[in-house]
Amino acid sequence: MKILVTGGAGFIGSNFIHYWLKKYLADSIVNLDALTYAGNLENLCDLENNQNYQFVKGDICDTGLVNEIVKDIDLIVHFAAESHVDRSIMDSGDFIRANVEGTRVLLDAAKNNGQIRFHHVSTDEVFGSLRPNDKPFNEKTAYDPRSPYSASKAGSDHLVRAYFHTHKLPITISNCSNNYGPCQFPEKVIPLFITNLLENKKVPVYGEGKNVRDWIYVDDHNAGVDAIIKKGKIGETYCLGGDSELTNLALTKKILELMDQGEDMIEYVADRPGHDLRYAMDYTKAKQELGWEPKVNFADGLLKTIAWYKHNKVWWQNIKNGKYLEYYKKNYSKR
Ligand code: NAD
Ligand code: TYD
Repeated sequence: MKILVTGGAGFIGSNFIHYWLKKYLADSIVNLDALTYAGNLENLCDLENNQNYQFVKGDICDTGLVNEIVKDIDLIVHFAAESHVDRSIMDSGDFIRANVEGTRVLLDAAKNNGQIRFHHVSTDEVFGSLRPNDKPFNEKTAYDPRSPYSASKAGSDHLVRAYFHTHKLPITISNCSNNYGPCQFPEKVIPLFITNLLENKKVPVYGEGKNVRDWIYVDDHNAGVDAIIKKGKIGETYCLGGDSELTNLALTKKILELMDQGEDMIEYVADRPGHDLRYAMDYTKAKQELGWEPKVNFADGLLKTIAWYKHNKVWWQNIKNGKYLEYYKKNYSKR
């Protein structure tokens, strides 16, 4: 199979490319990524000489380029997106463009080039916010996005399903909870807190830290995407979750404990506007239909993640001081 991965220089996409090329030796991957602030070719530098891997710098909104690339593609796995809620609160323009219009361009290219199989990677945030005792989200939960980010992802999900119903495009969708693991950009809470502590800086907890997220190790998410691609039913959506609900304060205390730091390193800061209280996922459908479930328990995954950031200081220091932008510009110009 020849696969187009979009957004493969980002956190989940780069982990997906490593996961896939290691498991499916006969497949090849074309990675289309615009290298926004969140794209980092260092995530993939070990693949530079891999015959089954090709990088194309480009925007998913570029119709001509996308149509050219998909000509000999068998499957599109669509990760590319603007992904950070706080940025979407400051300015939502890029989110609508990349997440909605970009998805539309890819869907049209898939439709117009022989109905290419299309898997769309989405988020639990499209379902809105749960109260403490509400049942977790499932595939039948009504959409209720509440941040510009989740609204843009909801728009993309609706478009993907519309192309299935209207154009019979062979699609699937996954909605997954909060990922963590290696190569996550240190603006998201887990890598931000780990790297701050490694720099002896405090960790900023929004509000009182009562908001709840469900955490999944990135490889478990990608194994779920794999299961959907291989065994999922066309036209269907699958919820993926990590079975690890934690308040932000409990998460913070866990990170502090594992890094031998005290609670004096917590700094309570102003809450995020419209901060969703709780996300949780019921992944019964994926378990029953695909035999998928998360394998990495949170304590192990967090330890592995902390170890990765400890051993890859240059990776995140280059991001925090902006040097990674020079790195990928230099590397890209070689291609
Ligand atoms: P990320 O921000 O780390 O990476 C996004 C990648 O997309 C970057 O490499 C960026 O350069 C690229 N990109 C952005 N706009 C582009 C464009 N117009 N054209 C081409 N490339 C573009 O994001 P992530 O955390 O890896 O998330 C990947 C996908 O998974 C997103 O669709 C996100 O909504 C979804 N998701 C993320 C999480 C999570 O916890 N991070 C959870 C569920 C779903
Ligand atoms: P984040 O990693 O941005 O993911 P999302 O908003 O997509 O769930 O944030 C996870 C949780 O951590 C969320 O409830 C907001 C909170 N948070 C903080 O308390 N402090 C921070 O500095 C950040 C970035 C997030």
